[in-house]
Order: sequence, then structure tokens, then C-alpha cells
Amino acid sequence: MDDSEEVFLRHLAPTNPYPFLIPIERAEGIYLYTPDGKRYTDMISGIGVSNIGHRNPKVVEAIKNQLDKHMHVMVYGEYIQSSSNLLAKKLTSLLPPSLDCVYLVNSGTEANEGALKLSKRLTRRTELVSFKRSYHGSTHGSMSVSGNEIKKTAFRPLLPDIRFLEFDNIEDLQQITTQTAGVIMETIQGDAGVRIPSKVFMKALRERCTRTGAMLILDEIQCGMGRTGTLFAFEQFDIIPDILTIGKAFGGGLPIGAFISSHSRMQELSHDPMLGHITTFGGNPVCCASALGTLEVITSGNLLNDVERKGRLIRSLLVHPKIREIRRIGLMFAIDFDTEEQVQRIVTQALKDGVIGFWFLSHPYSFRIAPPLTITDEEIREACEVILKAIEKS
Ligand SMILES: Cc1ncc(COP(=O)(O)O)c(C=O)c1O
Repeated sequence: MDDSEEVFLRHLAPTNPYPFLIPIERAEGIYLYTPDGKRYTDMISGIGVSNIGHRNPKVVEAIKNQLDKHMHVMVYGEYIQSSSNLLAKKLTSLLPPSLDCVYLVNSGTEANEGALKLSKRLTRRTELVSFKRSYHGSTHGSMSVSGNEIKKTAFRPLLPDIRFLEFDNIEDLQQITTQTAGVIMETIQGDAGVRIPSKVFMKALRERCTRTGAMLILDEIQCGMGRTGTLFAFEQFDIIPDILTIGKAFGGGLPIGAFISSHSRMQELSHDPMLGHITTFGGNPVCCASALGTLEVITSGNLLNDVERKGRLIRSLLVHPKIREIRRIGLMFAIDFDTEEQVQRIVTQALKDGVIGFWFLSHPYSFRIAPPLTITDEEIREACEVILKAIEKS
């Protein structure tokens, strides 16, 4: 055991100047524990990952079973492995027939890279369309289609030929044309502070993509896997994407992502040129076993059906005159305050009192909560009490 802050700060590359610096010894359910016994309630699910809690017993068992058989044996796409076969079969059984072929990758951003490449390869076009304030990942391609200019400037030149439309604005859809290879959109914008599009907009978007032949890519890396109350958020808008990307909670705590489309479309990545997308660790068998276990837990019992009720319970408890607005779908919340500093004070105070919340990178004056879907009513009440106290003190 080495929980030294000195080693962390000296030998692990930082992402920001103010890391949380909580030493973690173990995690179970909705709780994280430090070596000195302090318990934290994880109200952000490790940022969108632990949708069925930490170390869900079914997932741990699935991982252990796979470990006893084999780990990595070959790069993605060559050997037949039961773990990826079973995962792809289960996942596609839960999706519409036009999303019946899965490309397994390592992360959310790689899923989006694969989806963007597929849209170009399928259409032989170059233009990509995205939406303002979107977040699609931190590699060059995904960053290129992300909206936050402040984060991008230092890394230019990025991909050319990208158009950004206003989210939820039907008029802007005219800018999708027969030049457009793909349109990438988070079904629910996460990092922008939980932005929920209208059904009318989503239908119009689907129609425009169909009419122009542009591939509609829905990024459900953050809003998928039950977070909004259905397995995938697009189910609530009566549309089907041409390509779906998933990650984060998909692996139940191990790293795995996927881009999913139809069998016939996916064949195109295997020729002209061959190896259109390749990845060493995509479909890692242990990650696949974990993802299959996770899918089984999410889709069994009453878990999904109960998401909306739990969301409403939290919404009913979080009442305070300092709150400016709450945007919510399922168990995905953005709680707006007057200033960024106020949100930081709330995050710090709640943390002191054992509850982990966060903000949004592109929307720092919102307090973020997205607890594990497995959270109980009692745990919700306890966490909300701490959050309210932190708001009162802010
Ligand atoms: C909507 C969305 N897309 C893509 C990503 C990138 O995923 P990853 O961090 O696994 O690369 C994220 C991560 O926060 C996300 O929220």
C-alpha cells in the first residue's frame, strides 16, 4: 500500500492543478473508503462509470471466471473468443435490428474516432457536423468535433471541415447537406450541463440525415447504460442512429467502449483499405466479461424501471432558494448556481462531509450529480441532506 500524496504528485502526470487527492483503499456499492476509514458516498459514479455501483458482485464474479480462462490472446478481430461473442450477442439483442454489429474498443474517445472514420468511409465524404458545447473525447479527432474552444486552441491544427450547429435548433439542421459524412451528437449533452433536446428536434435531425445520406452518430458514452431510465437515451426519442457509441458504464469499472452499426455498414472497415480501424486491446476478454455482467445486471430486475422514481425523489429533496435551475433526465442532474466559485464551495463542503459531487468542464456553475442507479432511497436521503447543508453554507 502506498497512498503517499508526494509520490502521486511527483510521479503521476497531472490533468489539472487541483486534483481531489482522496486516497482510496477500497470501494463497494456506492461507497469509497480511505485507508484511515473515512467513507465517501460516490454521487457521480466515478463520472458516469459505476452505474451499478463499485465492485458489483455479479461483475466481480464474471471477471474472476474469465481470469481463470485467459486474458489477452490476440489483437481485436482475429480469434474467436467466447467473451466477446457473448457480449456482442447480448448487446445487439437489446438494440434495434439495424444496430446489430459491434466494434469493441478501449474507451469512449476511441469509439467516437471509429464512428467518425466509419461515417467518412461509408459516404466517401469529408465534412463532419457536431453541436456547440458538445464533448466527445480528448484525442485529436474527438476533440475536433467537441465544442469547447478554450480546450482546443493549444492543440490546433485539428481536423478540418467541421461545422458546429446550435443544439436543439431545427433551423440549423439545414447546414447538414450531401457534403456531410457524419453528424455526431450526444443524445443528452453531458458536459454542457445536462441539455435535453426536444423530440421534435430529434425527429427532424433523423429525417435530415436520412435525406442527405449523412450518418447519424449518437454518442451515449455518458448518457447510455440506463443513466436516463432506458438502457439507451435515444429510445426515448423514437429515433434510431446509424451509429451508436458507448463507453464509461459499459464496462462496469473496466475500460471498454464500442461503436455499433449495421452488419453491412461495418463490413466496409475491412477493405478499401483493409484494417480501416485496428486496435490491440479492443474487446479485451476480461473487459468483455465485465461488460456482459454489467449488461445483465442493468437489464435484470427492476433497476431500469426505478431510475425515474429515484430521479424524482432526488429532485423533490433538492429544494433550496440558492438553486437557480435544475436540469434532469433519469439520474443525471445539473444543478445551476449563481457562480462557479459557489459550486466549488459546495463541492468542497460536501466532500468534507463525505459526499462526492462535481461540476461540468464546460459548465462550471452547475453542480453535478449522477449516482449509481443502485442507490437506495435511504442513501439518497442521506446524501441529499449533506448536499443541502453544503448549499446552505455556500
Ligand atoms: C459524451 C462523452 N463522449 C465521449 C467521452 C470520452 O470518453 P473517454 O473519456 O472514455 O475517452 C466522454 C467522457 O467524459 C463523454 O462524456
